[in-house]
Amino acid sequence: MTKTKLSDLLLEWYRLHGRDLPWRVKGGAHPDPYVILVSEFMLQQTTVKTVIPYFTRFMARFPNIQTLAKAGEEEVYAYWQGLGYYTRARSLHQTAQMIMKDFGGIFPQKKEDVLKLKGIGEYTVASFLSLAYNQPEPVIDGNVIRIICRMYGWVEPVDKIMPEIRKKALELQSLEHPADYASAIMDLGAMVCTPKKPQCLLCPWQNFCVSKGREDIEKIPNKTKIGKKEKFGFVYVIQNKKQEIFIRKRTEKGLLSGLYELPWCDEGKLFVGKKVVETGKSVTHIFTHIKLNLQICLIEDEHPNFDGFFVSADKLSDYPFSTLMKKVLTKIQ
Ligand code: ADE
Repeated sequence: MTKTKLSDLLLEWYRLHGRDLPWRVKGGAHPDPYVILVSEFMLQQTTVKTVIPYFTRFMARFPNIQTLAKAGEEEVYAYWQGLGYYTRARSLHQTAQMIMKDFGGIFPQKKEDVLKLKGIGEYTVASFLSLAYNQPEPVIDGNVIRIICRMYGWVEPVDKIMPEIRKKALELQSLEHPADYASAIMDLGAMVCTPKKPQCLLCPWQNFCVSKGREDIEKIPNKTKIGKKEKFGFVYVIQNKKQEIFIRKRTEKGLLSGLYELPWCDEGKLFVGKKVVETGKSVTHIFTHIKLNLQICLIEDEHPNFDGFFVSADKLSDYPFSTLMKKVLTKIQ
């Protein structure tokens, strides 16, 4: 079967069974690249089902690039709150500002220009250019990796065979209908070639898949990895005499920047020699590269030695906190 026929089979299946999603048009590129930009940022580490209500609310408040670029950071965070991975919100906001400032409000269409924007890596540049501008950039996400490894029976660890997977993704791709092809292969992975219990009999590629019906199909792709690093630290509930709680805003750079938090550390201790009560409670949170375990400690202190301020418990909900900090606040309530 030629490559063209394979992509035709997939496109035909997509026309009949592809999902209708709020950021999607079928039959070519989306007319509004802003819609693709926002949805692709949201979908970077989050499922379609979770993203839909956030996307709808976000688009109602920030319907175009101008509105988003002009908005305050806190408000953008507020609309992101609950989606997690908050650096994405910040990068999306900065990207909107860069498009207004550096590109005169016109969305870039060249790969090297799109890569200059914040928070856009190889995957997002490909999905953005194919979905917004119908450019044949290979979109390689978990779905595509799974489909290719299964089709060709590649059982080696994915990390080791990425170059081969990339080459195959390029070969399979439709040059005539890149936007629909990108959506189609995502849908095939989400609806048919699922991680568990794939529906091989519904697959447009079933006659060409060497793993069809294999008992161990769920083991492909082989995701063997060096384990996630685990860190152990402390988070401090600092209270003053008025029973207010001390919070601070994270600094500009890095993980969870711009959100509020209780002081915490992922190694050592922040307080030495003060009367710290270990509550015996803890929270665990898994980030992309690390698993973080924090023991919750209580401490009384009128003047903590950090930049930040005290707020009363009933005012805490006025501030955007990361999912990790929300877990802590829930535990101590
Ligand atoms: N995952 C990432 N981008 C997506 C999209 N546009 N549609 C569905 N799932 C996605």
